[in-house]
Amino acid sequence: MTEAWRPEDDEPRGASGPVRVRVPAKINLHLGVGPLRGDGYHELNTVYHAISIHDELTARRGDTLTLTMEGEGTGELALDESNLVIRAARALASSVGVPPHARLHLRKQIPLAGGLAGGSADAAAALVACDALWGTGLSRDELAEIAAGLGSDVPFLIHGGTALGTGRGEAVSPVLARPTIWHWVVAVADGGLSTPVAYRELDRLRAAGAAGPPLGSTDTLLAALRQRDPRVLAAALGNDLQDAALALRPSLAATLKAGEAAGALAGIVSGSGPTCVFLATGAADAERIATELDALDVCRQARTAHGPVAGARIG
Ligand code: C5P
Repeated sequence: MTEAWRPEDDEPRGASGPVRVRVPAKINLHLGVGPLRGDGYHELNTVYHAISIHDELTARRGDTLTLTMEGEGTGELALDESNLVIRAARALASSVGVPPHARLHLRKQIPLAGGLAGGSADAAAALVACDALWGTGLSRDELAEIAAGLGSDVPFLIHGGTALGTGRGEAVSPVLARPTIWHWVVAVADGGLSTPVAYRELDRLRAAGAAGPPLGSTDTLLAALRQRDPRVLAAALGNDLQDAALALRPSLAATLKAGEAAGALAGIVSGSGPTCVFLATGAADAERIATELDALDVCRQARTAHGPVAGARIG
């Protein structure tokens, strides 16, 4: 049995050196959007998938709570109390009763407002990093519970992998498929799209009878994952928010078309967009498609990624 920490101990709990956490971006292999609920959220039926584009958060001991950053979105992203990283650190501190003191530094590769849950990823990283820094020792499920109060996607980014999301997306259960590595091309757009605006646009399209039929159950997608054949998975990918993203950003139609013309098995808008993701048959195929997309004027940058990968982890 390990000895319990006592407040009178000289040594503070937790890490004395910096804690570095890597956290992935997410895409949705299936994003089924149900009706608008009374609380302003939509009921979701989704399959989350964590991919190998990572942000990195470093937490050091400090006398106050501060956040600095470098990389994607520097100069655009507010680093004040509105930032999800700061809100996550404060939520953890108040739930366990420790002072919210840390110097946090974020290195961002996940684009802002891109439909890849970058802000949610950073919140998940802050929970894992501060838990280690402060020695609060919460389980992943306990961290996921705090995460749910910060945003619908945050619990998934604590867990990672491939997982089913229900409720408003915060109720996550892992998909237990034999491990298969899927290869993706991620076409990052210029500028972002607002998630609430995309959901509102879907409501508007549906009310006008201008949206496609809702995707419904995740059964086909889950069966496709078990078959481990990228062609089968390609046919099962779907996103109810895609019509809304295309209505708000019509140029995405050309991006999707270009990826498929370059030989991708399928392309979909990621989450609420504007990032588009394409499934490739393998790593070399993904590299070739990304190079081809980069040579065209259909996205800011095409990157390759694979999934599933782990959620927010130290190291
Ligand atoms: O949960 P999160 O803060 O990330 O959600 C941002 C916004 O996206 C919500 O305020 C809501 O407008 C929309 N949303 C939704 N239904 C969901 C998740 C998000 O309508 N299931």
